Amino acid sequence: MKIIFLEIIIYLSLILNPSLSEVTEIIEKLEFDKIRLDLPTYNATQISSQIGGAGNKVWVTFYRGVFDITDFVKRHPGGERIMNAAGSSVSPFWQFYQLHYRIDVLETLAKFRIGNLETPLDETPNMNYFDKEPPRNPTVITRTSTPFCGETPPALLPQNFYTPNDLFYVRNHLPVPTVDTSAYRLTIQGVGIPLSNFSLSLDDVKQKFAKIRMPVTLQCGGNRRSQMGEVKPTPGIGWTGGAIGNAVWGGASLRDVLTSAGFNWTNYTETFRQNKLHIQFEGLDCDPFGDCYGASVPLHFLLDATYTPLLVYEMNNASIPPDHGFPLRALFPGLIGARSVKWVSKILISEEESPSPWQRIDYKIFAPSVNEDNVNFNSASAIYDAPVNSYICSHKNGEVVERGYAFAGRGRGIVRVELSFDNGDNWQVVKLTRQDSNYSWTQWEIEVNVTSAMDVWVKAVDTGYNQQPEDLKHIWNYRGLVVNAYHKIKLNI
Ligand code: MTE
Repeated sequence: MKIIFLEIIIYLSLILNPSLSEVTEIIEKLEFDKIRLDLPTYNATQISSQIGGAGNKVWVTFYRGVFDITDFVKRHPGGERIMNAAGSSVSPFWQFYQLHYRIDVLETLAKFRIGNLETPLDETPNMNYFDKEPPRNPTVITRTSTPFCGETPPALLPQNFYTPNDLFYVRNHLPVPTVDTSAYRLTIQGVGIPLSNFSLSLDDVKQKFAKIRMPVTLQCGGNRRSQMGEVKPTPGIGWTGGAIGNAVWGGASLRDVLTSAGFNWTNYTETFRQNKLHIQFEGLDCDPFGDCYGASVPLHFLLDATYTPLLVYEMNNASIPPDHGFPLRALFPGLIGARSVKWVSKILISEEESPSPWQRIDYKIFAPSVNEDNVNFNSASAIYDAPVNSYICSHKNGEVVERGYAFAGRGRGIVRVELSFDNGDNWQVVKLTRQDSNYSWTQWEIEVNVTSAMDVWVKAVDTGYNQQPEDLKHIWNYRGLVVNAYHKIKLNI
């Protein structure tokens, strides 16, 4: 047992972002590896037979611990996937979904301990899940390594209006798939698609449809989460302000592609109005248990002829890089990044939203009073739109020049960016250095004469005259999403 434990700890040291010593300490402190004399001992059959048994309980194991997670299942941020582990060890799943090796997750599990496992299971880690990841620019700040999530150092963002591909933030939930383009097909099925076997090759997408090039800013729904975490911890990647980037994307109009699959838009006008159809997307990035990344967008978004979601194969005039969805990704301008499915292989028009937990559970926001103990994921709808936001990326001391970005979702451009140096009593309008389409960010700059240390606040106003909230406390949400309060920094000279 000690050897297996040590092996897992060495493995964790290779993959973990929270410091190894912290996690090792907590595993030992919570006595997962020990028999607790105050609790009964169960064998594997007793544990697996709980489901469907008298109480229809969900028990799992972790090292020597047995846990009754029946009440937690509906609050699990990964949704039904937790049932993969029901009746057995969570380790095979956690070794893949490594975000579970976090102190808060381990502490939550510990609360459910009801017993000891009689004979420890073989929990030897499989280390090959992430062995085909693409090379990455080390300048990108790694937030998690497997799956890879990295953000552009915010100070570098103002240096380019179009973020270079190798510096563009990456948000992966699963390993990057290796795609053989000669075998690649995009299948399109579902309501209103006459053929059940309609599919397109990559060349079809490139050659049969007009290429549209569009500057679009992509931003993760969790951008700036680390600042929200200063109010109260939120689970999730601690992005600063660099989970955002702007690129010129090239590809086919999704509307054109659906039309070519036989979708008759006029037949569905009324159904659209009732918001009853969704376009589901599935990526080729899957876990070893058969579940792949997915998301969906209401089909009525496409009724607006001025809104052009794309299926893109180019990013900044180059073939889209593996981390960003090679060979094809969906791109929904102005929506949170989670809806723009990378490595897209299936489109399904359906009366249901995507069944994926990233549609139905994660990427939802709740009132500040909701936490992991009282969350009801069904009580909120999926986030699509991104609110108005702004960020101070860099400042040069001496002749102080502040630079940053502002962005608002759904094509609401930015009309103004304002800075305050006296905690909001006065606001100075800053110079907008570059704006392009309303789907792209606005960059701004200001030179300030600084004589002493001061607080600097930024806020932006969008074309709908929405302004950012002042205080993070009032918009705190348990998943740490759409964080858009004023960005406040301290300037020291
Ligand atoms: N698509 C797939 N197939 N798999 C993913 O993990 N992540 C989503 C979205 N599309 C994801 C995906 C999220 S949460 C974001 S923010 C964006 O992709 C990130 O896109 P990028 O990595 O190209 O910056």
